[in-house]
Amino acid sequence: MNVNSTEESIQPPMMRWRNRTFTDIASYSLGTQPALIQEVVHGLLRTCMIERLQRVCGRERFARIVDLGCAAGDWAAAYLGIAESVVGVDICAAFIEEGIRKYGAYIGSGQLGLVVAGMPDFDDYEGADLVCSGGCFMCLEDARLHRLLERATEGVSGTRYYYFRATAASPRRATFVSESGGYYRRQDEYERTFAEHGMEVLDVLGSPSVVIHELLRSKLGNRRQRLDRRLQGLLDSSTRLRQYVDGDVERLNWILKIER
Ligand SMILES: C[S@@+](CC[C@H](N)C(=O)[O-])C[C@H]1O[C@@H](n2cnc3c(N)ncnc32)[C@H](O)[C@@H]1O
Repeated sequence: MNVNSTEESIQPPMMRWRNRTFTDIASYSLGTQPALIQEVVHGLLRTCMIERLQRVCGRERFARIVDLGCAAGDWAAAYLGIAESVVGVDICAAFIEEGIRKYGAYIGSGQLGLVVAGMPDFDDYEGADLVCSGGCFMCLEDARLHRLLERATEGVSGTRYYYFRATAASPRRATFVSESGGYYRRQDEYERTFAEHGMEVLDVLGSPSVVIHELLRSKLGNRRQRLDRRLQGLLDSSTRLRQYVDGDVERLNWILKIER
């Protein structure tokens, strides 16, 4: 596997927050997000989305999961709940180092691997029946996105599923290029690209809050009426919030499959 050829990838931009400058996405994310947000909010989304994955794919468990753009490995470690083994891949060495520190026990037992690589350069998909990504597809030029999808789809025999999460903040109207050079493609452009690689869309959902809201509603069913009115309001506002936060972009969660 060639893990060094990342020169064409567009690096996430430098960020400022409360008068501090962060030179890479890891120092920003690890330095600004309270652990509570990482653990509670992201944890809730992971729980809801993993249940949705199992339901849409019609499978309780997977053999091997590849997680592209895994950051410090929180999703990769959570996937161990539904897979025999998981490998997480990220371009940012500081994230991978943090992941190795946090999840060393899983790595030691051979269930989890965390490697530094650009998503399109990674090519070890052998035995993978689920490929996930929370990595930034908007950081990839068209040619690099095609290469990633080519590698993630070649040699499939049987069924392989894909879960691409909010990797694209897709504008609803027109494609645009951000100041830092990110390529923001529309939903239909992504779906055309997926189809070119033989991938069939099984499910597509908007912002993470919708995923959480939907699971809570399905679990509560009729009991929802018994909730305190304030709690009902909170639940409803989680979907309305999306309209205020996202404005003109949609954060998409796709579940796709290839059958050969
Ligand atoms: C928005 S963060 C998401 C992190 C995590 N998957 C999650 O959902 O919480 C995007 C991650 O993608 C990684 N990334 C961006 N471009 C990449 C590339 N070309 N190859 C590999 N990783 C990349 C970043 O370093 C970052 O960790």
